[in-house]
Amino acid sequence: MSTTYSPQQLRQRLDRLPRLRLAALPTPLDELPRLSAAIGGPQIWMKREDLTGLAFGGNKIREFEYSIAQAVEAGCDVLVHGAASQSNQSRQTAAVAAKLGMKAVQVGRADAHSQLQGNLLLTHLFGADVLLPPANEQAATLQATLASLRQAGHKPFNTSSDGAAYRGIAYVDGFLELWEQLQERNVQPDVVYVASGAHTHTGMVVAARALGLPLRFVGISPSPRDNDAAAQHMATLAAEHCRILDIDVDITPADLESYAEFVGADYGVVTDGSREALQWTARTEGLVLDPCYTGKAMAGLIAHVRAGWWTAQQTVVFVHTGGTPALFAYAAELGLDTSVRTGGRTGGMDNA
Ligand SMILES: Cc1ncc(COP(=O)(O)O)c(C=O)c1O
Repeated sequence: MSTTYSPQQLRQRLDRLPRLRLAALPTPLDELPRLSAAIGGPQIWMKREDLTGLAFGGNKIREFEYSIAQAVEAGCDVLVHGAASQSNQSRQTAAVAAKLGMKAVQVGRADAHSQLQGNLLLTHLFGADVLLPPANEQAATLQATLASLRQAGHKPFNTSSDGAAYRGIAYVDGFLELWEQLQERNVQPDVVYVASGAHTHTGMVVAARALGLPLRFVGISPSPRDNDAAAQHMATLAAEHCRILDIDVDITPADLESYAEFVGADYGVVTDGSREALQWTARTEGLVLDPCYTGKAMAGLIAHVRAGWWTAQQTVVFVHTGGTPALFAYAAELGLDTSVRTGGRTGGMDNA
């Protein structure tokens, strides 16, 4: 049997934990009526975690308030991260390191998007050391980098694996913020959609269940994975959040629904659905999604509306987790008509 907590009781528990102030909070909650009309579906509210402020924002800036606080407490002096070349987390790691006066190292990989654009450009700009070994050497390069940093007397903190449970804790806080905004606007959502790596999803589910809310969460995975195994993994992570917060809440795999059906060929590969989602969101609301996470999450929502999961009478909250700088490395895949570029100069116009 789970215990139910008030928002104040959850906040008191969050307040016991070390926290940095990195994000511009609260992030906005916007209604998207033209997108709702375009997809012929439910009312859509978007929680703008792309607008957390620092370094073009995104969910990691909020997550790092709690996870990198652990690094500071432990006396770490280098933030390390490694994933795809256009990793949002590498960009956000480098920016936070700069802000905290730490060193940053990105151990990414050479891949289809490793041109000096988007996140990779920004990671360089923030002063990180950037290594892009071939994919099959990435894990060994990361281990060698950590070993040589330690040998040189540094104390590295890997922002993926170290303090990972605290990243979800940040979204316990994030959900309390969202819930307050929904109540202020008298909005009663039927479901929350989120690009589900893990932590944003697990943190919000823990908060909702701790408040005693039966709210449904649908996670859309950016990477190929088994849906049931992902739910199991996330339930373990959620139990860790509950342990850290010292709350008595049972989270089962059934609470952590997620779908890998919208990934397409692989992580970071644009699909017809994600291209359509990016274009519709841009063209109805002037709003930018990203090609790896939120584009696919929105493609999942659109597909579910078409399949009759959600009607015009219902209300969806879509959590925009950020990632938009990656878009600039994806021009070729977006299916845009670029012929205007060949039309010569646009004389007589102001330059600004
Ligand atoms: C834009 C975006 N959305 C979602 C995620 C998933 O993050 P998390 O697992 O921390 O919730 C990431 C990071 O991997 C991301 O960059």
